[in-house]
Amino acid sequence: AESWKIKMVEPIRKSTREEREQWIKEAHYNVFQLRAEHVYIDLLTDSGTGSMTDRQWAGMMLGDESYAGASSFFKNMITRLTGFDYVIPTHQGRAAENVLFSYLVKEGDIVPGNSHFDTTKGHIEGRKAIAWDVTIDEAKDTQLEVPFKGNLDPKKLEKVLAEHADKIPFIIVTITNNTAGGQPVSMKNIKEVRAIADKYGKRVLFDSARFAENAYFIKTREEGYQNKTIKEIVKEMFDNADGMTMSAKKDAIVNMGGFIATRHQDWFEGAKGFCVQYEGYLTYGGMNGRDMNALAIGLDENTEFDNLETRIKQVEYLAKRLDEFGIPYQRPAGGHALFVDAPKVLTRVPKEEFPAQTLTVELYLEAGIRGCEIGYILADRDPVTRENRFGGLDLLRLAIPRRVYTNNHMDVIAVALKNVFDRREQITRGFQITWEAPLMRHFTVQLERAK
Ligand code: F0G
Repeated sequence: AESWKIKMVEPIRKSTREEREQWIKEAHYNVFQLRAEHVYIDLLTDSGTGSMTDRQWAGMMLGDESYAGASSFFKNMITRLTGFDYVIPTHQGRAAENVLFSYLVKEGDIVPGNSHFDTTKGHIEGRKAIAWDVTIDEAKDTQLEVPFKGNLDPKKLEKVLAEHADKIPFIIVTITNNTAGGQPVSMKNIKEVRAIADKYGKRVLFDSARFAENAYFIKTREEGYQNKTIKEIVKEMFDNADGMTMSAKKDAIVNMGGFIATRHQDWFEGAKGFCVQYEGYLTYGGMNGRDMNALAIGLDENTEFDNLETRIKQVEYLAKRLDEFGIPYQRPAGGHALFVDAPKVLTRVPKEEFPAQTLTVELYLEAGIRGCEIGYILADRDPVTRENRFGGLDLLRLAIPRRVYTNNHMDVIAVALKNVFDRREQITRGFQITWEAPLMRHFTVQLERAK
């Protein structure tokens, strides 16, 4: 059931295989270096790439651009949805992390959480603290079907708290768990985490980028939530948190924006100076007034079941097409993306030659579709040994922008991937690195075909 129709369109351009061979070579076989106009269907990210509604665009005209004390519509919407009274706007999610962690995270600290996102980990490790992963082990087996594969393992959490409580400033719950495959966290797990945190007197922070999609999964998969509205579920989720950082580029469906929200005055007082220093005055942070209006309206609209259902069913639709072809991905389908298990597809490409990166390039060459590697290149080198880290998953992420593509696009993606899948036995060599940055290398890495 579709909950919207299309009012404005943007043309996209097909290309030939010869053109793509040339372009990807010029991009050093790194899809981040491609020009967007050379991409036919862009699945690089679901962040900031969604389509706004007519109501959001109309809201932009009413933006209050006052330097200080601008209209409180933005704050009221966040408070209404979450119950958090203190709100600090920032220009995006990592800025919210930077502002809040500048106050909360100190050298030597340990911050436990479920598969901290790269920027979150970066803002912890950059302060010489440790991002301690307590994700459930099931998340590592892509073929295992469990409904809440993004959960925190209560035993792992309890253990790190028991051993290092004095070093732990707070616990992070990432909803949905992007790194584990856009997998949700159950309400039961959220409450377990709350109880463990209370036992040790710790606070809980939600990394909330895709909180509405998480609520959709609670409603559709968890016992006892079928008859609750998304807004009721969202409120119940946040009742168990002390605060949130938000990348509004995902579930608020705006191109740029973010915020911190909390129920605690001390967090607000502690962080607000860093907002003024890094982002802007407290009532606009890094945002335009008009963008804050669009964000508030986006939050309101995307915490309605119909909008979420249309979106998540589309990701499921693509997953079903891949099932028809037997293409392995992190199961079940995530909220915002599918993550193809590259070493299970390109079995002949050695890990040293980066199977997921190879699959990413092959899909681009096949049909001009840009996914992205969430694997061995992204994992960076071990800081001590400087060896590549091959311990985790090696995935090709197909992130689906919100309200941008139709199911016809999904068919094109599925068939292109099938064509690559059908010739997987012929793909025996991958890539080798010719240049890389010491940290966060995947954005700028340069590669050549392995010889
Ligand atoms: N937290 C999560 C769970 C995220 O997925 C992201 C961004 C951020 C924080 C940072 O937010 O980009 O607004 O600064 N994820 C994007 C992605 C980039 O493609 O998954 P940001």
